[in-house]
Amino acid sequence: MEEDNVMRLQKFIALSGFASRRKAEEIILEGRVKVNNQIIQTLGEKINIKTDIVEIDGKRIEISANHIYIMLNKPVGYVTTVSDQFNRPTVMDLIKNDIKMRLYPVGRLDYDTEGLLLLTNDGELTYKLTHPKHNIEKVYIATVKGIPAKDELQRFREGLYIDDYLTAPAKIEIIKIMKGSCELKIVIHEGKNRQVRKMCEKIGHPVIKLKRIAIGNLHLGNLPLGKWRHLKDVEVNFLKKI
Ligand code: URA
Repeated sequence: MEEDNVMRLQKFIALSGFASRRKAEEIILEGRVKVNNQIIQTLGEKINIKTDIVEIDGKRIEISANHIYIMLNKPVGYVTTVSDQFNRPTVMDLIKNDIKMRLYPVGRLDYDTEGLLLLTNDGELTYKLTHPKHNIEKVYIATVKGIPAKDELQRFREGLYIDDYLTAPAKIEIIKIMKGSCELKIVIHEGKNRQVRKMCEKIGHPVIKLKRIAIGNLHLGNLPLGKWRHLKDVEVNFLKKI
């Protein structure tokens, strides 16, 4: 076997997106994994990723070694496109010194929004994640003018009209009150253009600052502004299972 093509079976399963490394071990011990038609029920078994055929519950799994998944903490003042007609800085400028492969943003954040942005070269996953039917929860912290009253919060929660579009039920709570403004935690499933800004505007509390802190199980955590990191296996697996 050529050294480069050799990998532990549980790692191969994790990289395929089927399960986390730990869960992969359980699946092996349960006798659900076959390599070249033979059940492998011990841990540490090595396979050739180029030539061996791996199946779980009778279904073949594969890895695509060239897929990269990263999260970026986008600062305000960057556009979420690969190039900009007005020559403004793009999110690509923040990764191009480190990653030479061509990545694409998954969805968008406004020029004036900061926070969690995913980038990948996995076109299938991008397509899936940006499809409206998947309804992944996106969590935002919005600083808005004034302090919304109970009935305004209720309108936001129940759905309201923006550009003739009725928004789906959303979550909103006040998390910090300041002088003349407050901080809101907002959870929406949709991704209409400038949706959070328009919804806040609609209840009479325009957005001063907007930051996305989570997409489903993926959290920005303490990733510094303008920095990026690779997603962990469990994070990629979460996205693939959606
Ligand atoms: N909603 C907005 O208004 N802007 C964003 O960038 C994301 C969600």
